[in-house]
Amino acid sequence: MNNAFEYNFDLFDRFPSMYFLLGADGRILKTNAAANEILKKAGGIDQYAEIFDLVELCDRTKALNIFKKCLNKKTYGQCQTRFFINKELININLTFTVPIAGKDKSDTKIIAVARDITEEKQKEAELLRFYNIAEGTVNPVQITDLTGKMIYVNPAFVKISGYTKEELLGKNPRIFGSGKTSRKFWDRVWEVISGGKVWSGEIEDTKKNGEPFYSQLLISPILDKEEKIIGYFGIHRDLSEKRILEKQLIHTQKMESIGTLAAGIAHEVGNPLASISALVQVVQRDTNDAFIKEKLGLVKNQVTRISKIIRDLVDFSRPSNYELHLTNINKSIVEAVEITKVGTKAKNIQFNMKLSDDVPSLPLIPDQIHQVFLNILINAVDAITEAKTNGKPNSVEVKSFVEDGNVMVTFKDTGPGIEENNLNKVFEPFFTTKGQGKGTGLGLWVSYGIVKSFQGDINIESEPGKKTTFTITLPIET
Ligand SMILES: Nc1ncnc2c1ncn2[C@@H]1O[C@H](COP(=O)(O)OP(=O)(O)OP(=O)(O)O)[C@@H](O)[C@H]1O
Ligand SMILES: [Mg+2]
Repeated sequence: MNNAFEYNFDLFDRFPSMYFLLGADGRILKTNAAANEILKKAGGIDQYAEIFDLVELCDRTKALNIFKKCLNKKTYGQCQTRFFINKELININLTFTVPIAGKDKSDTKIIAVARDITEEKQKEAELLRFYNIAEGTVNPVQITDLTGKMIYVNPAFVKISGYTKEELLGKNPRIFGSGKTSRKFWDRVWEVISGGKVWSGEIEDTKKNGEPFYSQLLISPILDKEEKIIGYFGIHRDLSEKRILEKQLIHTQKMESIGTLAAGIAHEVGNPLASISALVQVVQRDTNDAFIKEKLGLVKNQVTRISKIIRDLVDFSRPSNYELHLTNINKSIVEAVEITKVGTKAKNIQFNMKLSDDVPSLPLIPDQIHQVFLNILINAVDAITEAKTNGKPNSVEVKSFVEDGNVMVTFKDTGPGIEENNLNKVFEPFFTTKGQGKGTGLGLWVSYGIVKSFQGDINIESEPGKKTTFTITLPIET
Protein backbone atom coordinates (compact mmCIF):
# COMPACT_ATOMS: atom_id res chain seq x y z
CA MET A 1 0.00 0.00 0.00
CA ASN A 2 2.83 2.28 0.94
CA ASN A 3 4.58 1.63 -2.35
CA ALA A 4 1.48 2.13 -4.34
CA PHE A 5 1.27 5.71 -3.08
CA GLU A 6 4.91 6.47 -3.59
CA TYR A 7 4.92 5.32 -7.14
CA ASN A 8 1.67 6.92 -8.15
CA PHE A 9 2.31 10.30 -6.66
CA ASP A 10 2.57 11.71 -10.20
CA LEU A 11 -1.17 11.22 -10.31
CA PHE A 12 -1.50 14.39 -8.24
CA ASP A 13 0.14 16.44 -11.00
CA ARG A 14 -3.32 16.43 -12.54
CA PHE A 15 -4.83 18.39 -9.64
CA PRO A 16 -4.77 22.17 -9.30
CA SER A 17 -4.10 22.06 -5.55
CA MET A 18 -0.65 21.57 -4.00
CA TYR A 19 0.05 17.98 -2.80
CA PHE A 20 2.89 17.05 -0.49
CA LEU A 21 3.93 13.60 0.62
CA LEU A 22 5.17 13.99 4.17
CA GLY A 23 7.22 11.77 6.43
CA ALA A 24 6.21 11.10 10.03
CA ASP A 25 8.56 13.94 11.04
CA GLY A 26 6.78 16.40 8.70
CA ARG A 27 9.56 16.42 6.14
CA ILE A 28 8.54 16.92 2.53
CA LEU A 29 9.29 13.77 0.54
CA LYS A 30 7.48 14.46 -2.69
CA THR A 31 5.50 17.29 -4.26
CA ASN A 32 3.09 17.45 -7.18
CA ALA A 33 3.39 19.87 -10.13
CA ALA A 34 1.27 22.61 -8.57
CA ALA A 35 3.39 22.54 -5.40
CA ASN A 36 6.61 22.53 -7.45
CA GLU A 37 5.46 25.58 -9.31
CA ILE A 38 4.94 27.54 -6.10
CA LEU A 39 8.12 26.30 -4.45
CA LYS A 40 10.15 27.18 -7.51
CA LYS A 41 9.16 30.78 -6.99
CA ALA A 42 10.56 30.53 -3.49
CA GLY A 43 13.96 29.24 -4.55
CA GLY A 44 13.22 25.49 -4.81
CA ILE A 45 12.15 22.74 -2.50
CA ASP A 46 15.56 22.57 -0.83
CA GLN A 47 14.72 25.74 1.05
CA TYR A 48 11.97 23.94 2.89
CA ALA A 49 12.70 20.82 4.85
CA GLU A 50 9.35 20.49 6.58
CA ILE A 51 5.95 21.52 5.43
CA PHE A 52 5.70 23.69 8.53
CA ASP A 53 8.46 25.92 7.20
CA LEU A 54 5.97 27.04 4.58
CA VAL A 55 3.30 27.95 7.09
CA GLU A 56 3.04 31.50 8.34
CA LEU A 57 5.02 31.82 11.58
CA CYS A 58 2.11 32.48 13.89
CA ASP A 59 0.23 29.39 12.67
CA ARG A 60 3.09 26.87 12.78
CA THR A 61 2.32 25.39 16.17
CA LYS A 62 -1.34 25.08 15.26
CA ALA A 63 -0.50 23.20 12.03
CA LEU A 64 2.01 21.01 13.81
CA ASN A 65 -0.53 20.04 16.46
CA ILE A 66 -3.09 19.05 13.85
CA PHE A 67 -0.47 17.01 12.05
CA LYS A 68 0.48 15.21 15.28
CA LYS A 69 -3.10 14.54 16.10
CA CYS A 70 -3.58 12.92 12.67
CA LEU A 71 -0.56 10.71 13.26
CA ASN A 72 -1.58 9.64 16.74
CA LYS A 73 -5.29 9.26 16.25
CA LYS A 74 -5.07 7.95 12.67
CA THR A 75 -7.53 10.52 11.50
CA TYR A 76 -7.52 13.44 9.07
CA GLY A 77 -7.40 17.10 10.04
CA GLN A 78 -7.58 20.50 8.43
CA CYS A 79 -7.22 24.20 9.03
CA GLN A 80 -7.20 27.53 7.26
CA THR A 81 -3.85 29.24 7.29
CA ARG A 82 -1.41 31.06 5.09
CA PHE A 83 1.74 29.93 3.28
CA PHE A 84 4.53 32.46 3.44
CA ILE A 85 6.25 32.08 0.10
CA ASN A 86 8.69 34.54 -1.40
CA LYS A 87 7.61 37.33 0.96
CA GLU A 88 4.04 36.74 -0.05
CA LEU A 89 1.17 35.31 1.95
CA ILE A 90 -1.21 32.91 0.23
CA ASN A 91 -4.47 31.98 1.92
CA ILE A 92 -4.84 28.21 1.88
CA ASN A 93 -6.97 25.45 3.22
CA LEU A 94 -4.53 22.84 4.55
CA THR A 95 -5.72 19.21 4.84
CA PHE A 96 -3.73 16.27 6.26
CA THR A 97 -4.95 12.84 5.16
CA VAL A 98 -5.34 9.84 7.40
CA PRO A 99 -1.79 8.47 7.89
CA ILE A 100 -0.61 5.74 5.52
CA ALA A 101 1.03 2.99 7.53
CA GLY A 102 4.56 1.87 6.49
CA LYS A 103 6.97 -0.86 7.55
CA ASP A 104 7.24 0.61 11.00
CA LYS A 105 6.08 3.69 12.86
CA SER A 106 8.83 5.95 11.52
CA ASP A 107 7.91 4.92 7.99
CA THR A 108 4.36 6.30 8.30
CA LYS A 109 3.42 8.89 5.69
CA ILE A 110 0.78 11.58 5.37
CA ILE A 111 -0.38 13.49 2.32
CA ALA A 112 -0.95 17.22 2.80
CA VAL A 113 -3.22 19.09 0.40
CA ALA A 114 -3.01 22.89 0.23
CA ARG A 115 -5.82 24.56 -1.69
CA ASP A 116 -5.42 28.23 -2.60
CA ILE A 117 -8.46 30.06 -1.22
CA THR A 118 -7.34 33.63 -1.88
CA GLU A 119 -10.26 34.30 -4.20
CA GLU A 120 -12.80 32.78 -1.82
CA LYS A 121 -11.38 34.87 1.01
CA GLN A 122 -11.67 38.00 -1.05
CA LYS A 123 -15.25 37.22 -1.94
CA GLU A 124 -16.01 36.48 1.67
CA ALA A 125 -14.49 39.79 2.79
CA GLU A 126 -16.45 41.60 0.12
CA LEU A 127 -19.67 39.90 1.15
CA LEU A 128 -19.00 40.68 4.76
CA ARG A 129 -18.46 44.32 3.85
CA PHE A 130 -21.81 44.50 2.08
CA TYR A 131 -23.50 42.59 4.85
CA ASN A 132 -22.16 45.08 7.41
CA ILE A 133 -23.36 47.99 5.30
CA ALA A 134 -26.83 46.47 5.01
CA GLU A 135 -26.97 45.70 8.72
CA GLY A 136 -25.67 49.10 9.76
CA THR A 137 -27.51 51.47 7.47
CA VAL A 138 -30.34 53.60 8.80
CA ASN A 139 -32.29 52.80 5.66
CA PRO A 140 -34.65 49.85 5.94
CA VAL A 141 -33.54 47.12 3.53
CA GLN A 142 -35.37 43.99 2.44
CA ILE A 143 -34.50 41.19 0.06
CA THR A 144 -37.20 38.98 -1.38
CA ASP A 145 -37.03 35.84 -3.45
CA LEU A 146 -38.65 35.44 -6.85
CA THR A 147 -42.09 34.85 -5.37
CA GLY A 148 -41.81 38.00 -3.26
CA LYS A 149 -41.17 36.21 0.03
CA MET A 150 -38.79 38.10 2.33
CA ILE A 151 -35.48 36.29 2.81
CA TYR A 152 -33.53 39.12 4.42
CA VAL A 153 -34.47 42.21 6.42
CA ASN A 154 -31.99 44.51 8.12
CA PRO A 155 -32.31 45.86 11.69
CA ALA A 156 -33.56 49.24 10.41
CA PHE A 157 -36.39 47.43 8.63
CA VAL A 158 -37.26 45.42 11.73
CA LYS A 159 -37.31 48.59 13.80
CA ILE A 160 -39.51 50.63 11.50
CA SER A 161 -41.97 47.81 10.74
CA GLY A 162 -42.47 46.89 14.40
CA TYR A 163 -42.35 43.15 13.55
CA THR A 164 -39.57 40.83 14.68
CA LYS A 165 -37.16 39.36 12.13
CA GLU A 166 -38.71 35.92 12.63
CA GLU A 167 -42.18 37.29 11.94
CA LEU A 168 -41.00 38.86 8.69
CA LEU A 169 -38.85 36.18 7.06
CA GLY A 170 -40.84 33.99 4.74
CA LYS A 171 -43.72 36.47 4.55
CA ASN A 172 -44.82 38.53 1.58
CA PRO A 173 -44.44 42.32 2.01
CA ARG A 174 -48.18 42.41 1.40
CA ILE A 175 -48.54 42.24 5.20
CA PHE A 176 -47.58 45.94 5.27
CA GLY A 177 -50.44 46.79 2.90
CA SER A 178 -52.21 49.96 3.97
CA GLY A 179 -55.10 49.27 1.62
CA LYS A 180 -54.58 52.78 0.28
CA THR A 181 -52.57 51.65 -2.70
CA SER A 182 -54.47 50.02 -5.50
CA ARG A 183 -53.86 46.53 -6.75
CA LYS A 184 -53.05 48.01 -10.14
CA PHE A 185 -50.24 50.06 -8.63
CA TRP A 186 -48.46 46.93 -7.34
CA ASP A 187 -49.18 45.03 -10.57
CA ARG A 188 -47.33 47.79 -12.36
CA VAL A 189 -44.42 47.57 -9.90
CA TRP A 190 -44.16 43.82 -10.50
CA GLU A 191 -44.26 44.33 -14.22
CA VAL A 192 -41.29 46.70 -14.03
CA ILE A 193 -39.09 44.68 -11.68
CA SER A 194 -39.84 41.26 -13.15
CA GLY A 195 -38.83 42.81 -16.48
CA GLY A 196 -35.39 43.35 -14.96
CA LYS A 197 -35.77 47.09 -14.38
CA VAL A 198 -35.49 49.25 -11.28
CA TRP A 199 -38.67 50.69 -9.77
CA SER A 200 -38.77 53.66 -7.46
CA GLY A 201 -41.67 55.55 -5.93
CA GLU A 202 -43.40 56.70 -2.78
CA ILE A 203 -45.58 54.28 -0.86
CA GLU A 204 -47.59 54.16 2.33
CA ASP A 205 -47.15 50.99 4.39
CA THR A 206 -48.60 50.04 7.73
CA LYS A 207 -46.53 49.13 10.76
CA LYS A 208 -47.47 46.25 13.03
CA ASN A 209 -49.18 48.65 15.43
CA GLY A 210 -51.31 50.06 12.61
CA GLU A 211 -49.45 53.35 12.28
CA PRO A 212 -48.68 54.48 8.75
CA PHE A 213 -45.14 54.28 7.45
CA TYR A 214 -44.40 56.59 4.53
CA SER A 215 -41.39 55.69 2.51
CA GLN A 216 -39.61 56.23 -0.72
CA LEU A 217 -38.93 52.74 -1.99
CA LEU A 218 -36.43 51.58 -4.56
CA ILE A 219 -36.67 47.97 -5.76
CA SER A 220 -34.08 46.48 -8.04
CA PRO A 221 -33.88 42.94 -9.34
CA ILE A 222 -30.89 40.85 -8.23
CA LEU A 223 -29.27 39.11 -11.20
CA ASP A 224 -27.01 36.06 -11.29
CA LYS A 225 -24.01 35.61 -13.61
CA GLU A 226 -26.30 34.70 -16.49
CA GLU A 227 -28.34 37.88 -15.89
CA LYS A 228 -31.23 35.80 -14.66
CA ILE A 229 -33.35 37.37 -11.91
CA ILE A 230 -32.91 35.48 -8.64
CA GLY A 231 -34.56 37.90 -6.23
CA TYR A 232 -35.37 41.51 -5.47
CA PHE A 233 -33.61 44.07 -3.36
CA GLY A 234 -35.68 46.84 -1.76
CA ILE A 235 -34.35 49.86 0.07
CA HIS A 236 -36.56 52.40 1.84
CA ARG A 237 -36.10 56.01 2.80
CA ASP A 238 -38.29 56.91 5.75
CA LEU A 239 -40.53 59.82 4.81
CA SER A 240 -42.73 59.70 7.91
CA GLU A 241 -41.17 62.71 9.56
CA LYS A 242 -41.26 64.67 6.33
CA ARG A 243 -44.94 63.85 5.88
CA ILE A 244 -45.79 64.90 9.43
CA LEU A 245 -43.91 68.18 9.02
CA GLU A 246 -45.67 68.77 5.72
CA LYS A 247 -49.03 68.21 7.36
CA GLN A 248 -48.14 70.56 10.20
CA LEU A 249 -46.95 73.19 7.78
CA ILE A 250 -50.14 72.97 5.77
CA HIS A 251 -52.15 73.28 8.97
CA THR A 252 -50.15 76.30 10.15
CA GLN A 253 -50.40 77.97 6.77
CA LYS A 254 -54.12 77.35 6.67
CA MET A 255 -54.58 78.86 10.11
CA GLU A 256 -52.50 81.85 9.12
CA SER A 257 -54.39 82.55 5.93
CA ILE A 258 -57.71 82.18 7.73
CA GLY A 259 -56.38 84.68 10.29
CA THR A 260 -55.61 87.22 7.62
CA LEU A 261 -58.99 86.73 6.03
CA ALA A 262 -60.76 87.03 9.36
CA ALA A 263 -58.91 90.21 10.25
CA GLY A 264 -60.02 91.70 6.93
CA ILE A 265 -63.64 90.71 7.47
CA ALA A 266 -63.61 91.96 11.06
CA HIS A 267 -62.29 95.29 9.93
CA GLU A 268 -64.78 95.68 7.07
CA VAL A 269 -67.79 94.49 9.07
CA GLY A 270 -66.86 96.13 12.36
CA ASN A 271 -67.40 99.72 11.27
CA PRO A 272 -70.81 99.39 9.56
CA LEU A 273 -71.91 97.22 12.51
CA ALA A 274 -71.03 99.97 14.95
CA SER A 275 -73.14 102.37 12.83
CA ILE A 276 -76.10 99.96 12.80
CA SER A 277 -75.83 99.53 16.55
CA ALA A 278 -75.82 103.27 17.11
CA LEU A 279 -78.75 103.84 14.68
CA VAL A 280 -80.82 101.10 16.32
CA GLN A 281 -80.34 102.73 19.68
CA VAL A 282 -81.32 106.15 18.33
CA VAL A 283 -84.51 104.86 16.69
CA GLN A 284 -85.40 102.74 19.75
CA ARG A 285 -85.13 105.77 21.96
CA ASP A 286 -87.18 108.02 19.67
CA THR A 287 -90.09 105.74 18.89
CA ASN A 288 -93.21 105.22 20.97
CA ASP A 289 -94.42 102.28 18.91
CA ALA A 290 -94.20 99.25 21.19
CA PHE A 291 -94.00 96.82 18.25
CA ILE A 292 -91.04 98.62 16.70
CA LYS A 293 -89.37 98.95 20.10
CA GLU A 294 -89.62 95.22 20.69
CA LYS A 295 -88.34 94.26 17.26
CA LEU A 296 -85.45 96.69 17.54
CA GLY A 297 -84.59 95.01 20.83
CA LEU A 298 -84.23 91.73 18.92
CA VAL A 299 -82.10 93.46 16.28
CA LYS A 300 -79.88 94.77 19.06
CA ASN A 301 -79.42 91.27 20.48
CA GLN A 302 -78.36 89.96 17.10
CA VAL A 303 -75.99 92.89 16.61
CA THR A 304 -74.44 92.14 20.01
CA ARG A 305 -73.93 88.55 18.94
CA ILE A 306 -72.24 89.58 15.71
CA SER A 307 -70.09 92.06 17.64
CA LYS A 308 -68.85 89.27 19.89
CA ILE A 309 -67.84 87.22 16.90
CA ILE A 310 -66.09 90.21 15.37
CA ARG A 311 -64.26 90.79 18.65
CA ASP A 312 -63.08 87.18 18.64
CA LEU A 313 -61.87 87.52 15.10
CA VAL A 314 -59.91 90.62 16.02
CA ASP A 315 -58.48 88.83 19.05
CA PHE A 316 -57.05 86.11 16.85
CA SER A 317 -55.27 88.54 14.58
CA ARG A 318 -54.42 90.73 17.55
CA PRO A 319 -52.50 93.86 16.59
CA SER A 320 -49.23 93.72 18.46
CA ASN A 321 -49.57 97.03 20.25
CA TYR A 322 -50.89 95.39 23.42
CA GLU A 323 -48.42 95.58 26.25
CA LEU A 324 -46.83 92.47 27.69
CA HIS A 325 -46.87 92.04 31.46
CA LEU A 326 -45.10 89.50 33.61
CA THR A 327 -47.99 87.14 34.20
CA ASN A 328 -48.36 84.69 37.05
CA ILE A 329 -49.59 81.64 35.16
CA ASN A 330 -50.69 79.66 38.20
CA LYS A 331 -52.74 82.59 39.49
CA SER A 332 -54.37 82.95 36.09
CA ILE A 333 -55.23 79.22 36.09
CA VAL A 334 -56.74 79.42 39.60
CA GLU A 335 -58.88 82.39 38.58
CA ALA A 336 -60.10 80.68 35.43
CA VAL A 337 -60.99 77.54 37.40
CA GLU A 338 -62.87 79.59 40.02
CA ILE A 339 -64.94 81.26 37.33
CA THR A 340 -65.66 77.95 35.60
CA LYS A 341 -66.72 76.28 38.85
CA VAL A 342 -69.45 78.85 39.41
CA GLY A 343 -71.30 77.85 36.24
CA THR A 344 -74.42 75.72 36.83
CA LYS A 345 -73.18 73.04 34.44
CA ALA A 346 -70.04 72.56 36.50
CA LYS A 347 -71.68 71.63 39.77
CA ASN A 348 -71.14 67.87 39.48
CA ILE A 349 -67.62 68.13 38.19
CA GLN A 350 -64.55 67.75 40.36
CA PHE A 351 -61.76 70.24 39.62
CA ASN A 352 -58.24 69.17 40.61
CA MET A 353 -55.23 71.44 40.35
CA LYS A 354 -51.60 70.36 40.52
CA LEU A 355 -49.66 73.56 40.01
CA SER A 356 -45.90 73.51 40.31
CA ASP A 357 -44.18 76.27 42.27
CA ASP A 358 -41.35 76.15 39.73
CA VAL A 359 -43.48 77.85 37.08
CA PRO A 360 -42.04 81.31 36.49
CA SER A 361 -44.01 84.41 35.53
CA LEU A 362 -43.93 84.99 31.78
CA PRO A 363 -44.24 88.16 29.73
CA LEU A 364 -47.74 87.74 28.27
CA ILE A 365 -50.96 89.64 27.90
CA PRO A 366 -52.72 88.57 31.12
CA ASP A 367 -56.30 88.94 29.85
CA GLN A 368 -55.57 86.90 26.79
CA ILE A 369 -53.91 83.94 28.47
CA HIS A 370 -56.73 84.01 31.00
CA GLN A 371 -59.18 83.81 28.12
CA VAL A 372 -57.36 80.78 26.70
CA PHE A 373 -57.59 78.90 30.00
CA LEU A 374 -61.24 79.83 30.36
CA ASN A 375 -62.09 78.69 26.81
CA ILE A 376 -60.52 75.31 27.37
CA LEU A 377 -62.13 74.85 30.79
CA ILE A 378 -65.60 75.80 29.53
CA ASN A 379 -65.17 73.42 26.61
CA ALA A 380 -64.33 70.63 29.05
CA VAL A 381 -67.40 71.37 31.15
CA ASP A 382 -69.58 71.54 28.02
CA ALA A 383 -68.17 68.27 26.73
CA ILE A 384 -68.78 66.47 30.03
CA THR A 385 -72.33 67.79 30.45
CA GLU A 386 -73.28 67.05 26.87
CA ALA A 387 -72.09 63.46 27.17
CA LYS A 388 -74.76 62.90 29.85
CA THR A 389 -72.71 60.35 31.76
CA ASN A 390 -75.42 59.38 34.23
CA GLY A 391 -73.95 59.97 37.62
CA LYS A 392 -70.45 58.83 36.64
CA PRO A 393 -67.92 60.94 38.58
CA ASN A 394 -66.40 63.47 36.25
CA SER A 395 -63.34 65.59 36.69
CA VAL A 396 -61.13 68.18 35.11
CA GLU A 397 -57.49 68.04 36.09
CA VAL A 398 -55.26 71.07 35.54
CA LYS A 399 -51.51 70.79 35.88
CA SER A 400 -48.70 73.27 35.42
CA PHE A 401 -45.02 72.39 35.38
CA VAL A 402 -41.71 73.21 33.73
CA GLU A 403 -40.26 70.91 31.08
CA ASP A 404 -37.38 71.47 28.62
CA GLY A 405 -37.37 75.23 29.03
CA ASN A 406 -41.13 75.51 28.61
CA VAL A 407 -44.02 76.13 30.92
CA MET A 408 -46.56 73.38 30.31
CA VAL A 409 -50.20 73.65 31.25
CA THR A 410 -52.40 70.59 30.78
CA PHE A 411 -56.15 70.25 31.05
CA LYS A 412 -57.42 66.70 31.27
CA ASP A 413 -61.14 66.04 31.30
CA THR A 414 -63.17 62.85 31.56
CA GLY A 415 -65.50 63.92 28.77
CA PRO A 416 -66.45 62.06 25.60
CA GLY A 417 -63.21 62.83 23.79
CA ILE A 418 -62.66 64.09 20.28
CA GLU A 419 -62.70 61.88 17.21
CA GLU A 420 -59.35 61.61 15.48
CA ASN A 421 -60.74 63.16 12.31
CA ASN A 422 -61.74 66.26 14.24
CA LEU A 423 -58.51 66.76 16.16
CA ASN A 424 -57.14 69.36 13.77
CA LYS A 425 -60.51 70.79 12.84
CA VAL A 426 -61.41 71.94 16.35
CA PHE A 427 -58.88 74.76 15.95
CA GLU A 428 -60.55 76.00 12.80
CA PRO A 429 -62.88 78.98 13.11
CA PHE A 430 -66.59 78.16 13.23
CA PHE A 431 -66.00 74.48 13.79
CA THR A 432 -68.43 73.48 16.51
CA THR A 433 -70.36 70.37 17.40
CA LYS A 434 -72.62 72.32 19.68
CA GLY A 435 -76.20 73.05 18.71
CA GLN A 436 -77.25 76.17 16.89
CA GLY A 437 -76.91 79.30 18.98
CA LYS A 438 -74.86 77.43 21.59
CA GLY A 439 -71.31 77.67 20.29
CA THR A 440 -69.75 79.77 17.59
CA GLY A 441 -66.72 77.51 17.21
CA LEU A 442 -64.35 80.39 17.78
CA GLY A 443 -63.09 79.58 21.29
CA LEU A 444 -60.24 77.25 20.35
CA TRP A 445 -59.41 79.18 17.23
CA VAL A 446 -58.90 82.35 19.24
CA SER A 447 -56.96 80.41 21.86
CA TYR A 448 -54.72 78.95 19.16
CA GLY A 449 -54.02 82.44 17.79
CA ILE A 450 -53.19 83.79 21.23
CA VAL A 451 -50.87 80.95 22.20
CA LYS A 452 -49.08 81.10 18.84
CA SER A 453 -48.59 84.85 19.22
CA PHE A 454 -46.58 84.08 22.37
CA GLN A 455 -44.46 81.59 20.34
CA GLY A 456 -46.21 78.81 22.20
CA ASP A 457 -48.06 75.74 21.07
CA ILE A 458 -51.34 74.06 21.84
CA ASN A 459 -51.94 70.34 21.35
CA ILE A 460 -54.65 67.80 21.97
CA GLU A 461 -54.54 64.17 22.87
CA SER A 462 -57.79 62.36 23.03
CA GLU A 463 -59.20 58.93 23.55
CA PRO A 464 -62.73 58.98 22.19
CA GLY A 465 -65.21 57.90 24.83
CA LYS A 466 -62.75 58.45 27.65
CA LYS A 467 -60.80 61.65 27.93
CA THR A 468 -59.26 64.68 26.33
CA THR A 469 -56.06 66.45 27.25
CA PHE A 470 -55.19 69.92 26.03
CA THR A 471 -51.55 70.85 26.45
CA ILE A 472 -50.31 74.41 26.23
CA THR A 473 -46.59 74.94 25.82
CA LEU A 474 -45.18 78.38 26.51
CA PRO A 475 -41.45 78.99 26.01
CA ILE A 476 -39.78 80.53 29.04
CA GLU A 477 -37.29 82.47 26.97
CA THR A 478 -38.22 83.84 23.58
N1 LIG B 1 -62.62 69.01 26.04
C1 LIG B 1 -63.30 68.70 24.93
N2 LIG B 1 -63.86 67.47 24.79
C2 LIG B 1 -64.55 67.16 23.68
N3 LIG B 1 -64.70 67.97 22.63
C3 LIG B 1 -64.16 69.20 22.70
C4 LIG B 1 -63.42 69.63 23.84
N4 LIG B 1 -62.99 70.89 23.60
C5 LIG B 1 -63.43 71.23 22.39
N5 LIG B 1 -64.14 70.24 21.83
C6 LIG B 1 -64.74 70.24 20.49
O1 LIG B 1 -64.18 71.31 19.75
C7 LIG B 1 -65.18 72.11 19.22
C8 LIG B 1 -64.65 73.50 19.03
O2 LIG B 1 -64.41 74.13 20.27
P1 LIG B 1 -64.41 75.70 20.33
O3 LIG B 1 -64.12 76.11 21.71
O4 LIG B 1 -63.50 76.20 19.26
O5 LIG B 1 -65.87 76.06 19.92
P2 LIG B 1 -67.20 75.88 20.75
O6 LIG B 1 -66.88 75.57 22.16
O7 LIG B 1 -68.03 74.90 19.99
O8 LIG B 1 -67.81 77.31 20.61
P3 LIG B 1 -67.32 78.67 21.37
O9 LIG B 1 -66.15 78.31 22.22
O10 LIG B 1 -66.95 79.58 20.27
O11 LIG B 1 -68.47 79.08 22.13
C9 LIG B 1 -66.32 71.97 20.16
O12 LIG B 1 -67.57 72.25 19.53
C10 LIG B 1 -66.23 70.51 20.56
O13 LIG B 1 -66.80 69.68 19.57
MG1 LIG C 1 -65.51 76.75 23.29
